Amino acid sequence: MDKKILEIQETFSQLSPKKLSEVEKIRIEYLGRNGYLTKLFEEFKELSPEFKKEYGKKINDLKNLITEKINSWKLLHEKDVNNKTEKLDLSLEEYPINSGTRHPISIIKNEIVEIFKYLGYSIYEGPEIEDDWHVFSALNFPEEHPARDMQDTFFIEKKPDILLRTHTSSVQVRSMEQEKLPIRIICPGRVFRNEAISARAHCIFHQIEGLYIDKNVSFADLKQTLLYFAKEMFGAETKIRLRPSFFPFTEPSAEMDVNCKLCGGKGCSVCKYTGWLEVLGCGMVDPNVLELNGINSKTFSGFAFGMGLERIAMLKFQVRDLRLYFENDVRFLKQFKNY
Ligand code: PHE
Repeated sequence: MDKKILEIQETFSQLSPKKLSEVEKIRIEYLGRNGYLTKLFEEFKELSPEFKKEYGKKINDLKNLITEKINSWKLLHEKDVNNKTEKLDLSLEEYPINSGTRHPISIIKNEIVEIFKYLGYSIYEGPEIEDDWHVFSALNFPEEHPARDMQDTFFIEKKPDILLRTHTSSVQVRSMEQEKLPIRIICPGRVFRNEAISARAHCIFHQIEGLYIDKNVSFADLKQTLLYFAKEMFGAETKIRLRPSFFPFTEPSAEMDVNCKLCGGKGCSVCKYTGWLEVLGCGMVDPNVLELNGINSKTFSGFAFGMGLERIAMLKFQVRDLRLYFENDVRFLKQFKNY
């Protein structure tokens, strides 16, 4: 028995198949139904019990050794079959790989998200197709407000109104419905307005809006938050200015400008000779909005702000034509490789 085991081992160790078909032949020869190993096991059955233990182990070890070797040959030669050649041709040239770049709007969005994440804001998202309640009514828009008009809003159905959201303030309404107070969120997303496409306007654009509701939230908190944001976004030297404005859902409302970096405040065509650039809208959440959304306006107060990403990207990258962000011309997109 010992001799047979040794013989099989010897002859097997001298084999080195060159192709998959040869490997298969060897497998049948050794492990197949009439193979050497099967025959050994048959002889093993005839042994007296005192030898069985010793030879059982030896034959099993041999079988494992052969199986492993055959499997490794298989792997080796299967690769050849896949490559359709026996050897790898390392002189072949690789395909030119053009790696893509992040879209400038994504770059800006990620940057803004990072800034507010640091201040403890979480991201909240909602649907692009909305109803009148979430886009207008819950935000204190009067019945006859022009934003509800067909000229501004893309309606999908009338009565009850189903529409494409015109701002992501609708997501803030959803958060007030669903979340416990305090709320501190930013809402990035696409918005839609029925406007003629030009260098300065598009019917689809991107916004990030923010909402913070808690006890004792003040206008000073809003101003400090926005100042921090502006410095992070446009550089430590950035100055901001708040101008009174109007939105149905905030009272008081303001628009925030940052000082024009291009002319250093002297006045140029970009800042329309004012030295300032408009960046976002903001204000204290109107108590009516809190009450409409089931929040006690005596105990809680809040602020909100909203900005267009295309506008911020325009200021940051000095791209004057908004349409470039939507055309996806690679020659344009390639320029943002280093961000
Ligand atoms: N929702 C406003 C818009 O789309 C922006 C805004 C948000 C203004 C929050 C004030 C407060 O123009």
